[in-house]
Amino acid sequence: MTSQTINPPSRLAGAFDLPGDKSISHRAAIFNAIAEGSATIDNFLTGADCLATVHLLQALGADIALEQGEGMARLTVQGVGLYGLTEPTDMLDATNSGTTMRLLAGLMAGQSFFSVLTGDASLRRRPMARVVEPLALMGARIMARGNGQFAPLAIRGSRPLHAINYALPVASAQVKSALILAALYARGSTLLRGKVGSRDHTERMLRAMGVPLDIAIEPGSDEGLISIVGGVQPKARSLAVPGDISTAAFWMVAGVAHPNAELTLHGVGINPTRRGIIEALQEMGGNIVLRKRREQAGEPIADITVRSSGLRGIEVGGAMIPTMIDELPILAIAAACAEGRTIIRDAAEMRAKETDRIATVADGLSRMGIAVEQRPDGMIITGGKMHGATIDSHDDHRIAMTFAIAALLASGPTTIQGAEVVSVSYPAFWAELNKVMNVEG
Ligand code: S3P
Repeated sequence: MTSQTINPPSRLAGAFDLPGDKSISHRAAIFNAIAEGSATIDNFLTGADCLATVHLLQALGADIALEQGEGMARLTVQGVGLYGLTEPTDMLDATNSGTTMRLLAGLMAGQSFFSVLTGDASLRRRPMARVVEPLALMGARIMARGNGQFAPLAIRGSRPLHAINYALPVASAQVKSALILAALYARGSTLLRGKVGSRDHTERMLRAMGVPLDIAIEPGSDEGLISIVGGVQPKARSLAVPGDISTAAFWMVAGVAHPNAELTLHGVGINPTRRGIIEALQEMGGNIVLRKRREQAGEPIADITVRSSGLRGIEVGGAMIPTMIDELPILAIAAACAEGRTIIRDAAEMRAKETDRIATVADGLSRMGIAVEQRPDGMIITGGKMHGATIDSHDDHRIAMTFAIAALLASGPTTIQGAEVVSVSYPAFWAELNKVMNVEG
């Protein structure tokens, strides 16, 4: 285990590119692997989560190569077609990656072979009934530990699957995407209802690959309808992955909350189903300017500049939560620096992530001297003055980065234990942190 000690700097400045979006990278690899034709995926995220997806697709017979150089990463995928995957000879280890496990569970449900999906200790504690139950309704045979609740998952797929009419009980893009993948292998039209308004990268990418999806989302809500016709072969699609807004969020909070900061982030994905963090920080008074709005890979992107700002507490909940679910830990750091109280509600899903992020965020903030009240579905944070502390990452990449940013804003040094876990989604994090801290002026 490695640790990093951070002394708060007097200034933060810099302009930089961000690694590729994690959600889009996973999808680009998976969908192109089952497509017809070959594709190149530039700015592919080389974090451990996306590499796990690549390794598992290779174990399923897909032909994928990764080229990596200074500041570049390109994945080349030769698609095997919807029906071209082959039975793996060993267990499929998704390591720490929920997206890998849940999306591949959907894909494996449609294969006429046997597979076992497992993961590390954190992933084996995370809820899997949310994919196991609907995939079983589609006709896949799935056995899972803990009476169907946890990985390992042993899957004997079925072909064709049954098309189902299913109401999603949680706003989870991983569950939705697993069911859309399985629906490609179903006879007839699958209808997904209920909480389908989570991040929509799957829908955008599959449509761009020639798979027709009917989508109707209720405005201002996370509910709607998606219907998918089975049996349509996706066509390979090359793309350059937009910068990850979930990664950008760490720098956005550092920039608005530090008293002497200006940071510019190039090419950040600003998909409406992901940009809740921008809206929340702006509502708190954050000086965030979006420039050069454009499209890349069917996704809206922009350059973002953030500057030191006076922040005030806000309340976030409802349909906002799925648009910023991974950013709630770093929002909590902005809240700690804001005047007054910030209330986060309707966010019980935070407890189903790599760690129970309500508990790990509340624990870290209390160690740094901030008053936090935990709720079953969120927390109430009273802004104050953070002081340095020793914080354990609990092997959660976003907890490590959240408290590294808190360290920039605290008085005195902070040590992050288990610092290496950032490689799950942002291998260059510590190097970038050093760069933005070591600036003149
Ligand atoms: C993801 C969806 C979210 C998010 C995760 C990535 C995805 O999870 O927390 O980091 O790529 O689909 P849920 O869909 O379970 O909310």
